[in-house]
Amino acid sequence: MTPGIVFDVRSFERVGSTSDELRALARNGAAHGTVVCADEQLFGRGRQGRPWFSAPGNLYLSVLLRAALPIRRSAELAFVAGLAVADAVDAALPSGSRAQLKWPNDVQIDGAKVAGVLVERADGDEDTVSCILGIGVNVGHAPSGLPYPATCLCEHGGASVTATRERVLAAIATRWDQWLRDGFGAVRADWLGRGPRPSAPLRVSLPDGAVDGTFAGLDAEGALLLHTASGTRRFIAGDVVALPSTAVGSAGHG
Ligand code: BTN
Repeated sequence: MTPGIVFDVRSFERVGSTSDELRALARNGAAHGTVVCADEQLFGRGRQGRPWFSAPGNLYLSVLLRAALPIRRSAELAFVAGLAVADAVDAALPSGSRAQLKWPNDVQIDGAKVAGVLVERADGDEDTVSCILGIGVNVGHAPSGLPYPATCLCEHGGASVTATRERVLAAIATRWDQWLRDGFGAVRADWLGRGPRPSAPLRVSLPDGAVDGTFAGLDAEGALLLHTASGTRRFIAGDVVALPSTAVGSAGHG
């Protein structure tokens, strides 16, 4: 396949969650590049403990990545993975169209979510990055009844689940190499090329309320920076939504 990672793909018809299957393999010493994919998940999960609707027809895939790097660098993989999935989605879109990223790693087409990434720790010590990237791509159908717009590749030119899986894995290998070779700064720069435009009005929802402001970039660790009426604020968690351009004044509020 592509340089950097030799993938060992294990395919299943139906599992609880591909990430749980992969964690069990990791605990038994599975190697960097082990992949679990399934046609269907019974208990697919998304970020913040939300369910991930996982009927047949979409891509459900988890990849084990290991590196001899400090554990604190694991957070950077959320951006590596999001970018890789966006690269893979681009390949299925009509030429000239590009997927966008919503912090930290939702992949969108024209503002509707087409793919999500859940990064979890697999095992290892303080000197090891050992993570499971769980990736779901809406290929043949988009779930309905969600609190945000969703779409699928089938609404944008289309692709098969198999082709999408190959593209996602190839893109992960490429972005993984970039991360190891050029560092997080290069990944962050590419993320920003697909992220909100500078000063875009955003709302960050947290368990204790929402903060409105304007996009001020990502810091060196990937935290979201927002200009608000009370100064620049830094977020390491939260749900982000784009607001209409008239919604927030130049200094923001919140
Ligand atoms: C999100 O909330 O956006 C992340 C969704 C991640 C879903 C994928 S599907 C494959 C893997 N297995 C899971 O249970 N979740 C991830």
